Amino acid sequence: MAEQLFDNHGRVINYLRLAVTDRCNLRCFYCMPEEGINYVPREELLTYEEMVRLLRLLASMGVSKVRITGGEPFIRRDMMDFLRAISQLDGIEQINITTNGTVTAPLVPELKVLGIHSINLSLDTLDRERFHRITRRDALPQVMETLEALLHYGIKTKINAVVMDGQNTDDLIPMVELAREHPLGVRFIEEMPFNGEGNHYPKLTWDHRRILEHLREAYPAIEKIPDPPHSTSYNYQIPGHQGTVGIIAAYSRTFCGTCNRIRLTPQGLLKTCLYDDGVFNVRNLMRAGASEAQLRDAFLEAFAHRAKDGWEAERNRQFGTPVSESMSTIGG
Ligand code: GTP
Ligand code: 5AD
Ligand code: SF4
Repeated sequence: MAEQLFDNHGRVINYLRLAVTDRCNLRCFYCMPEEGINYVPREELLTYEEMVRLLRLLASMGVSKVRITGGEPFIRRDMMDFLRAISQLDGIEQINITTNGTVTAPLVPELKVLGIHSINLSLDTLDRERFHRITRRDALPQVMETLEALLHYGIKTKINAVVMDGQNTDDLIPMVELAREHPLGVRFIEEMPFNGEGNHYPKLTWDHRRILEHLREAYPAIEKIPDPPHSTSYNYQIPGHQGTVGIIAAYSRTFCGTCNRIRLTPQGLLKTCLYDDGVFNVRNLMRAGASEAQLRDAFLEAFAHRAKDGWEAERNRQFGTPVSESMSTIGG
């Protein structure tokens, strides 16, 4: 029977976000500069064996939910073999994946067989030209194929749309309309400055309040519904819609009080908050020959010193540098 893990603020920790690669085949405006980022050399990445070892250990400590992120997870070679391996692990009750959907469609039948719990699909617009402008690649048709396959195979799906002033705010209502006919969650996300550059706007113009106001104008009957435990999104229902709508205050950081998550970057850096600059490198410990007990102690020590929220984590960064790294090096 697995233990339950708690941090120094009494919050349960049961959710690991594992970024399996920093590579991506898109160049989204809010995530990476046009020229891309310097990718991590292969030997610095956690190997699949190392990731399986860590998952087994963390599952024995109380982690039961995993989300695979990237970069784009399906760009990493032999990803399906890795998913097959971790789907067998005791204690891991849910495997979820966040993907850009560009190469995912043909894999959907196998994801269904593996029992993947849910897929979050990053999609910021339904317009091909705007998609091209935002992602700097002309790949909307492939992403829509993935969406159709997910709906066809009945895999629980949420769409993640980052809201960007002057880029896709005309798309919000058409995207909500997708949830009229389909049992989807459509979630609008505040843009964070994790883009390899820094803030795109002097001040966040589309924060969670403005997004909600915009939705209310179009749908006066929109109603708040209860949020699942530890939810990043505030969730809403529009009468007559099969799906739901959510708003993620990722920059305003209003949900830290129930934060249950930790992160591992592709190089094995443990982050106990999205906004921190890393606590210790678990890959280095493993490659130096650490035992399970030593790894466990290192994790417990980190969980006993978590920042209380994303603001404190950001203030505690070394040399006070504001966040600006690319999201593809963290996994969101
Ligand atoms: P669920 O498991 O479906 O609740 O997904 P999720 O919202 O935890 O993860 P997803 O990968 O779909 O991320 C959606 C958005 O929320 C992205 O912009 C993430 O960067 C952001 N996000 C996820 N976790 C956190 C978090 O702990 N803090 C903050 N501030 N943002 C987060
Ligand atoms: N701000 C907000 N969300 C972001 N994502 C990537 N970069 C940013 C950013 N700068 C989202 C992606 C993906 C999720 C993991 O994080 O759209 O859905
Ligand atoms: Fe957790 Fe940090 Fe995200 Fe807040 S900002 S929810 S503390 S990871």
